[in-house]
Parts: sequence; C-alpha cells; structure tokens
Amino acid sequence: MKLVRTDIVLLISMLVAVSFATIATAQPHPIPLMDGLAHTGVPSCATAGCHGDQVTGDGAGPIVGQNEYFQWRSPTEKGAHSRAYEVLLTPHAKRIANNLGIGAAQKAAECLDCHADNVTPEQRSQRFQISDGVGCEACHGGAQNWLAFHRIGAGHEKNIEAGLYPTEDPVARARLCFGCHLGSSFENQFVNHRIMGAGHPRLKFELDLYTTVQQHHRVDDDYRQRKTVAPGAQVWAVGQALGLERTLELLLDDETGRSGVFPELVFFDCHSCHQPISNGVADLDWRPNPGRSIGPGMPILNDANLIMLQAAMRVIDPGLAERLESEGRSLHMASLHGGSQFRTSAETLRSIATDAANSIMTADLADAAVIRALLLEIVSTEQSSRYTNYAAAEQALFAVQRLSAALQLQGPRLTNSIEKASRAAQSPYAYNQNAFKAALNDISRQIGR
Ligand code: HEC
Ligand code: HEC
Ligand code: HEC
Ligand code: HEC
Repeated sequence: MKLVRTDIVLLISMLVAVSFATIATAQPHPIPLMDGLAHTGVPSCATAGCHGDQVTGDGAGPIVGQNEYFQWRSPTEKGAHSRAYEVLLTPHAKRIANNLGIGAAQKAAECLDCHADNVTPEQRSQRFQISDGVGCEACHGGAQNWLAFHRIGAGHEKNIEAGLYPTEDPVARARLCFGCHLGSSFENQFVNHRIMGAGHPRLKFELDLYTTVQQHHRVDDDYRQRKTVAPGAQVWAVGQALGLERTLELLLDDETGRSGVFPELVFFDCHSCHQPISNGVADLDWRPNPGRSIGPGMPILNDANLIMLQAAMRVIDPGLAERLESEGRSLHMASLHGGSQFRTSAETLRSIATDAANSIMTADLADAAVIRALLLEIVSTEQSSRYTNYAAAEQALFAVQRLSAALQLQGPRLTNSIEKASRAAQSPYAYNQNAFKAALNDISRQIGR
C-alpha cells in the first residue's frame, strides 16, 4: 500500500486523539518528508552565528562546529546532498525523465521525493527553496517548532519533542537514509526497475560508511554528553538487519513488490540477469552458493544484506543466526515456487530481521574482541564462498573497510590485501570471486594471528 501524506497526518491526529501518551512511545518519529511541519529552508539554518558562521568556518564553534552549512556544500562526495537537485538538471536526468515520459525531472515528484526536501507547498516557508536539494530539514526535520529555541540550550530532548529528527539514533537514522537510498512506501520514494531501465544508477548503501562520508558535525566531549554515540560496528550491523527488514517490507507490499504479472525486478540481483552470455566452458560463470540451493538459470533475490547479517549474528546471537540461515534458504526455495509459501517465508524472515536489529542494539559492539570476531567471520572461507554475486562482495568490502577502521588496523600488507579485494570487485561485469576470496583469505591470516 502506498502511504501518502494526508493518510499519515490523519493517522497521527487520530492517534493523538486516542491517547497522546501511548503514541509518544509506540509511534516511531515520522520521517521528515512526512512530518507535516513547516520547513523553514536551508538559508534559515545557514546564517552567520548559526550553522553558516564565516568567522568560525573552521568548525571551532563552542558547542557545534557552526560550519555545518559549508561542510554540507563541500565539493567532495560529502556535499552530494547539496547537489541532489542540480543532478536533476543534467542531461543524464533529462534522458531518464524522457524515457519515462514524466516531463521535467526537476518538477516530477517521482524524482523530487529523493532528490530534494519535497514537502507539500503549504509546508514551505518563505526562505524554503526546492533547489537546495536534500537540505538540512530533509534529515533533521521541519524546524517550525524548534528553530527559535534549539540554539539557546533548550536541550536535546526538548528539541526532539518539538520535531527535530533523532538522527543520532542508528535505528531512526537507518529509516531516514533508507527512504532515499533503498526505498520506502512513502509517496514516490522508490526506484523500480522501470526507472533503472530508463537509466537511473543502481542504488547501493551501507549505513556506517555512508554516515561517515557525509559527516558534517564534530564529535567531541560535549557532543558525547548531549548524545549517545553508537559504535561503528553497531551502526554497520543494525544497518544490515534493517536493510533486510525494509527490503522484505517493500517486497511484500503489493504496490512496490509487483510489476504487472512479474515480481518487481529491482529486488533481484541485477547481475543475475545483466551479464554477458558465456560462449564456452571457459567463461561459464555460474557457481553454487552454500546459502541457497537454487540451481543455474534462475534470477536470485538480492540477498547481500541477508548474507552480511548471517555473519554478524553468528558472532552476536548464534540462535538468531540459525533461524536466519534456515528461513533464508526457505525464502530462496519459495522464490522458485511462488504463491503463499513465498509470502509466509518473507514475513517470517522479516520478523527475524526485526529481532536481529533489537539484539544488535543491546549487544556491546564497542568491544574490540567482538569487532575482531565480526571481521574474522566476514573474511572466513565459509563466509566468502557465499560471495558468489557482486552485490554481496560489495557489502563484504564495505564491512572489511569499516570494521578494520574501527579496530584501527593498519599496515602496508593489510592495505595491499584490501586493495586486492577491491580490484577483484571493481566492476560488476568483471567480478572475480576466486581473486576476491584469495584476498579475503590474506586478510584473515593477518588479523587471525
Ligand atoms: C528512492 C530515491 C530516489 C528516487 C525516487 C530517484 N532517485 Fe535519483 N538517485 C538516488 C540516489 C540515492 C542516488 C545516488 C546513487 C548512488 O550513487 O549510490 C541517485 C542518483 C541519481 C543520478 C546520478 C547522479 C550522479 O551524480 O551521477 C541521476 C541522474 C538521478 N539520480 C536522476 C533521477 C531522476 C531523473 C529521478 C526520477 C525519475 C530519480 N533520480 C529518482 C535516489 C533516488
Ligand atoms: C543526509 C542527512 C543530513 C542532512 C542533509 C544534514 N544533516 Fe546534519 N546530521 C545528520 C546526521 C546523521 C548527523 C549525526 C548524528 C547527530 O548528531 O544527530 C548530523 C549532525 C548534525 C549536527 C551536530 C549536532 C550536535 O549535536 O552536535 C549539526 C549541527 C547538523 N547536523 C547541522 C546540519 C545543517 C545545518 C544541515 C544543512 C546545511 C545539515 N545538518 C544537513 C544528517 C544530516
Ligand atoms: C531525501 C533523500 C535523501 C535522504 C533522506 C538521504 N539521502 Fe543521501 N543522497 C540522496 C541523493 C539523491 C544522493 C545523490 C546526490 C548526488 O548525486 O549529488 C545522495 C548521496 C549521498 C552520499 C554520497 C555518495 C553517493 O553515493 O552519491 C552519501 C554518503 C549519502 N547520501 C549518505 C546519506 C546518509 C548517511 C543518509 C542518512 C543520514 C542519507 N544519505 C539520507 C538522497 C538522500
Ligand atoms: C529478472 C531479470 C532482471 C533483473 C534481476 C534486472 N534486470 Fe534490468 N533488465 C531486464 C530486462 C528484461 C530489461 C529490458 C531489456 C530491453 O529492453 O531490451 C532490462 C533493462 C535494464 C536496463 C536498460 C538497459 C539498456 O541499456 O537498455 C537497465 C539500466 C537495467 N535493466 C538495470 C537493472 C538494475 C540496476 C537491476 C538491479 C537492481 C536490474 N536491472 C535487474 C532484466 C532484469
């Protein structure tokens, strides 16, 4: 079911009428696109003395850096959100929009719901400009009720009550980022295979890495006093669990899960269909995967998050790892048969993913021994034989990079092995699983000592 803004506002007002106390605890914070609040616009955050302070442009503000606006506008990848609208004016975007026949990309809700802060016209205050792209309030929430007091030390709780989005909480953050980087059932936050076919790039995402890349704030003593800082390994693991949960939600949803008589192709591994056809024995590429008993010649559900989560849970919660293993197999098998068995299996797996997220959020993932065990599991021979598909290798590489950074592992040999693994998985069309496995095995030998 597609959820549109009016439904949500109605739902919230009904719940408020029933009981204000229960909704505060039972309802997750609405994501900024759906918060119903006035969005005051990037210029209202970016003034001197606030987050666009020229004088302390080096990030030396007493509490927050006060240079967040300049960081958000960085010409590097970190500043991508500030250019998300401009991207819609490029020949690439025009081509996509033409192929889809939706008119100008920069006017189409199908694009703006992810490439800008596309709240309703009534929610746009005087200084709001859609051309600011993914602005501050697209993540931090409409500032209507907190703009005036959040800077005079009202306290984080008060700000959150007034509609500031809890971006520091990894679970809330995942729900926010996934809307645009994986998809949601809100309005038009979904890139289906038709949009991909029209030329949209494949979406890839890993919560911990992407949080780090776009980081525009300073984590210092007073930040730690104000907020709980989740360890990177926890952010990584919960991102895998919630990524699986979100994917299955969208797959189970009739609006997003199907496309005519076909299942929606975007949930399948792109390169199980898009690859060169082999002409002889030498370049035959199919190989079995120990996590699923699907033979050759079938499209495969994209199970990259599942594969990573299985590894994480073998360390964090072995009982849940077993449930993931058997239900993962069932889902793959059921994908060959379809029908109600497929639905039941997807629903069960989704609820296991939710349990896994809860388990991860209560585990101690700041413990170096646990992080090391996670890394060793990711690069183990048993696990790397599951990286038959490019999407899984891509996630494994993200994990190796983030977990070795969390352990502050360094050295030319390790760098060299990680580079070898990156080269083996550089291009989806030339992914070499044997070379990838060999590089991970090198890493395993180095950290296993
Ligand atoms: C579900 C959210 C979502 C929707 C809907 C969406 N996009 Fe995107 N788009 C993204 C994300 C995220 C990226 C960045 C992909 C990456 O690099 O991982 C992106 C990247 C792009 C790029 C490449 C940008 C570059 O820097 O090379 C273009 C062009 C683009 N989108 C155009 C469009 C158009 C046109 C539409 C509407 C038909 C659209 N997008 C709809 C999320 C979305
Ligand atoms: C893509 C989402 C996103 C966008 C866009 C974004 N932020 Fe953030 N911001 C975050 C996340 C995630 C954090 C880190 C977690 C936290 O402290 O809440 C953060 C942290 C911050 C902090 C640190 C708060 C503290 O307690 O020290 C400030 C200040 C901030 N952002 C201001 C801005 C401003 C100003 C803009 C616009 C120019 C902006 N952000 C745009 C996601 C975003
Ligand atoms: C409203 C939609 C939206 C939200 C919410 C959002 N992003 Fe993005 N993000 C985009 C789009 C669109 C792009 C691509 C823009 C471009 O190509 O310039 C992007 C690009 C990025 C990039 C640059 C790398 C790349 O692939 O282009 C990073 C890193 C990133 N986002 C991280 C995050 C994180 C972390 C969160 C959650 C805190 C988040 N984003 C939330 C829409 C969003
Ligand atoms: C079940 C098989 C299947 C899967 C899985 C699949 N596709 Fe496709 N794809 C197709 C078919 C069929 C076409 C249409 C080919 C045609 O029009 O000639 C297509 C067309 C495309 C095109 C247009 C190619 C062109 O240049 O004409 C792109 C781009 C594309 N897909 C991207 C993706 C991405 C990204 C994914 C993964 C998220 C994906 N596909 C998953 C079968 C698949």
